[in-house]
Amino acid sequence: MEEKEIYKGLAGVPIDYTAISKVNAETNSLLYRGYPVQELAASKTFEEVAYLLWNGELPSESELTAFNERTRPLRKLDPRVAAAVDALPLDAHPMDVVRTAVSVIGSLDKDAWTLTENLSKAEALFAQIPAVVARDHRRRKGLEPVEPSSHLNYAEDFLWQTFGEEPEAAVADAFRVSLILYAEHSFNASTFTGRVIASTLSDIYSAVTGAIGALKGPLHGGANEAVLHIFNEIGFGPGAKERVKVWLDNALATKRKIMGFGHRVYKSGDSRVPTMRDAMVKMIEHYGRADVLELYEALEEDFVSRKGIYPNLDYPAGPTYHLMGFETEEFTPIFVAARVTGWTAHIIEQVENNALIRPLSVYNGVPERHVL
Ligand code: CMC
Repeated sequence: MEEKEIYKGLAGVPIDYTAISKVNAETNSLLYRGYPVQELAASKTFEEVAYLLWNGELPSESELTAFNERTRPLRKLDPRVAAAVDALPLDAHPMDVVRTAVSVIGSLDKDAWTLTENLSKAEALFAQIPAVVARDHRRRKGLEPVEPSSHLNYAEDFLWQTFGEEPEAAVADAFRVSLILYAEHSFNASTFTGRVIASTLSDIYSAVTGAIGALKGPLHGGANEAVLHIFNEIGFGPGAKERVKVWLDNALATKRKIMGFGHRVYKSGDSRVPTMRDAMVKMIEHYGRADVLELYEALEEDFVSRKGIYPNLDYPAGPTYHLMGFETEEFTPIFVAARVTGWTAHIIEQVENNALIRPLSVYNGVPERHVL
């Protein structure tokens, strides 16, 4: 076997520069273009954060108006994209639906290869993904799609298209916070996938489609869905502590991974969790579901005390989306809607200063041999 060091999972290996975000495990902080994500979540709309990620600066009032005037009319799906969504089986996973829809959107763009136009393509994807997720939500329930609005902001319109009612301010606000926290996280697996695809000078839709595939896995974005599966296994309602103990004894004895806990970079807690937890608690109070908080805290306390592994963003995000009325399988597509901003910012950055991403491997198969 060759004697070369390998970096399994690229753990701890910096592979390029980025000016988009900074994840700092030592100070437990996350900056988008220099701004702490908590500050953005406290006061900015998701549109402003998307603009920041793409352009490097927050928009002025007139820039934001122009951005909204440009992107709101793009919210409506092309009938061919709508038809493609409707043609998929009703039991297809919503992540497969959103992945397919992005592929179809790309196939309709005659200028898909025009890499210099990637920002306007990114804006269109940002505008359209909520319509895909919402249409899919409604068709499964036998409901007609709801036309996107032109007067609601992104977070409000997403909820409007999904549930067919203008959302209460508290709900729209918790949703906005979750989208901002999910928007960007440096070279995570899905962003890296997108950058690898972009590095071949493939088109932005292919890169985003690949990123969606990477996000689907339960070790990455699929964890928000997996958290709810765990909560359902343990069971809602009063008296969570005892049920959690029994469930966790069994899960750890069978070496199960506890989804929503742990992180490749953050080892002493995910900097986004306190903000998302606050948003979750507001929803728990709003919907009068103290049992959800009891379960959330019981599992966190028990698992952290046994393993010293802390919750990541998916842990409070999953229950929050559940309380809002989203189906469990729709949680990761919401993550797609948010992260498409970060992905496309990275795809643009990759193309602007490109090097084909092509690492080496160390061969450990059979030694050279011959057929004759
Ligand atoms: N449950 C049980 N054990 C865990 C967990 C967990 N959630 N996370 C880490 N460990 C253990 C792991 O079994 C291993 O133990 P040992 O050394 O005895 O084999 C040790 O901790 C190191 O884990 P690792 O998987 O090698 O560490 P990593 O840095 O590669 O893993 C991770 C990071 C996110 C893949 C892992 O923590 C995990 O699988 N968590 C559950 C899935 C999850 O919540 N993913 C979301 C990640 S963050 C947000 C996002 O991207 O969506």
